[in-house]
Amino acid sequence: MPHPHVVIIGASSGMGHALARLCLSKGYSTAMLARRTAPMHALAAQYPDVPHAIAQLDVCQTATIPEVLQSTIAQVKGMDVLVHCAGYGWVNPQLDFAIEEGMIDTNIRGFTAVMDWVFHYFQQQGKGHLVVITSVAGLRGDRHAPAYFASKAYQISYLQALRHKAHKADLPIYITDIRPGFVDTKPMEGRRFWMCSAETAAAHIFKAIHQHKRVAYITPRWRWVALAMRIAPSWLYEKVM
Ligand SMILES: NC(=O)c1ccc[n+]([C@@H]2O[C@H](COP(=O)([O-])OP(=O)(O)OC[C@H]3O[C@@H](n4cnc5c(N)ncnc54)[C@H](OP(=O)(O)O)[C@@H]3O)[C@@H](O)[C@H]2O)c1
Repeated sequence: MPHPHVVIIGASSGMGHALARLCLSKGYSTAMLARRTAPMHALAAQYPDVPHAIAQLDVCQTATIPEVLQSTIAQVKGMDVLVHCAGYGWVNPQLDFAIEEGMIDTNIRGFTAVMDWVFHYFQQQGKGHLVVITSVAGLRGDRHAPAYFASKAYQISYLQALRHKAHKADLPIYITDIRPGFVDTKPMEGRRFWMCSAETAAAHIFKAIHQHKRVAYITPRWRWVALAMRIAPSWLYEKVM
């Protein structure tokens, strides 16, 4: 079977960067997008023989998304899998709207613009695989980062809607919702429990894509935390968290 053509949005650092490295190391045609292009150029230079494309994209500049994606996909001659890793999270216990607004812009407005364009692309193509890094955070609200947790809940729900649409259209468009717990990337400075490296996370994401999973927890044992978050009574959740 030929290698899939992979497009990764948010490939300049963290899990997206580690996943791009994994795809390039396996010889997959890989398109990489983010605001900072230098880290992606440095990565691609290590795999000069592997087809790739690099483009600058700010998902908050929603009007630019169609043109940038179209031209990047044309450079690598197609897209079978799109992995959306672009995201922004910040604790904001003081409820500063300027901080909340940044997360709403990236994780909701920019996210939705990308999802809609990609879903239409896959509809026209008649198939495709859409993968998004959401978070365990999307399962229940939290006082430390209200907009972040809420934006991840939005993403989870949006992906459920797209999966439903694909099913009703009877099209082989797969939707994979990747829900990490703690991953050792820049926004997560400091050790946390059950934290894994970006490389370990990328390996799990890669496997989940291959298996066409609907939902994958990263690492898999985070499904137990997810279950506890879903079933804990409010009085207990509010006391512990
Ligand atoms: N680390 C964790 O523990 C954890 C846990 C659960 C979920 N997540 C989620 O995983 C995703 C990836 O995060 P990460 O931990 O790997 O952190 P990261 O290193 O900060 O990666 C975020 C990526 O998104 C890109 N990005 C951010 N804003 C963007 C924008 N407006 N337009 C285009 N690209 C943008 C960044 O590139 P540029 O800055 O170059 O644009 C970067 O490549 C996020 O959605 C995050 O919420 C992380």
